[in-house]
Amino acid sequence: MKTIFSGIQPSGTLTLGNYLGAISQFVQLQEDENCYFCIVDNHAITVPQEPATLQHNIRSLAALYLASGINHEKSTLFIQSEVAAHAQLSWMLQSISYMGELERMTQFKDKSSGKDGVSSALFTYPALMAADILLYQTNIVPVGDDQTQHLELTRTLAQRFNNRYKKTFVVPDISIPKVGARIMSLQDPLKKMSKSDENPKGFISMLDTPKKIEKKLKSAVTDSEGIVAFDKENKPGISNLLTIHASCTGETIETVEDKYKNRGYGEFKGDTAKAVIQLLQPIQEKYEQLIQSNDLDDILDRGAEKAAATANKTLKAANAAMGLGRK
Ligand code: AMP
Ligand code: TRP
Repeated sequence: MKTIFSGIQPSGTLTLGNYLGAISQFVQLQEDENCYFCIVDNHAITVPQEPATLQHNIRSLAALYLASGINHEKSTLFIQSEVAAHAQLSWMLQSISYMGELERMTQFKDKSSGKDGVSSALFTYPALMAADILLYQTNIVPVGDDQTQHLELTRTLAQRFNNRYKKTFVVPDISIPKVGARIMSLQDPLKKMSKSDENPKGFISMLDTPKKIEKKLKSAVTDSEGIVAFDKENKPGISNLLTIHASCTGETIETVEDKYKNRGYGEFKGDTAKAVIQLLQPIQEKYEQLIQSNDLDDILDRGAEKAAATANKTLKAANAAMGLGRK
């Protein structure tokens, strides 16, 4: 059995992109592997957060993980800030990260360019992400393709630590899903669908009402050709809708293409909306039950306890390897 670790930031309601690119993979992986799924709230505070909103988003994300099919008896679901070892190991890994390496991270460049008051935590964020992963002796990290650079740095830091001190960490591999790795914005199909998009018409939130979903899909940007065909370069809008449609129904893209060959965009968009609604409605119903219940707190308490037991073992070994504290 392999150990899997992945995390999502509680920085807004998850989108259909998060579900198809990340969570649906997690649900499958937990059947055979030892999985840790984390609500990375320490990562969220690298940019300003309103405390009450952050608290809401943490709880909401926990409920969405569970409503989507993460089984707390199979997987360990927990909140990053409730396991202190993450912040502790992060500090130690910062001591072996070079400024030049962190300066090269494109996410840091994107999020900081032209801004005043950029936090130093945004800069050292990759060391925290490496700590998340290395604490659990993780073999595989399933993420979207935007995280590749951070994963490469995690591997470098693990190797550097092992070589400089003592073999302490497993060097993890990255895993990127083949279909759905990049669901695009409905308004600008050259841009990734993101929960932080200023234009809410660009993304489908996992908690959008059926009416909203229909409206957003019907106004999705396409082209004037009128033919439902997959061609990412010349027809990015329709190709994105085909990916969404196929991922939601479980059909192949070719099957969907065939089905709508002689039909218009209107009908195709309407049926795509139906497929998305059918996928999300049962998740939304479970979410409503969970968000109010005490079960959620019990699950997160147990998750933090289980995660801490493993994480503290690794932290102890890392402390000893570096010569920190007493024997
Ligand atoms: P984030 O929302 O940036 O915290 O991302 C959480 C996870 O969802 C990461 O594994 C991302 O790579 C993945 N993800 C985010 N947006 C998309 C998208 N539009 N398409 C596919 N995967 C995504
Ligand atoms: N940086 C990731 C993102 O923004 C979230 C994350 C934090 C993560 N720690 C992780 C993902 C560890 C995988 C493993 O999407």
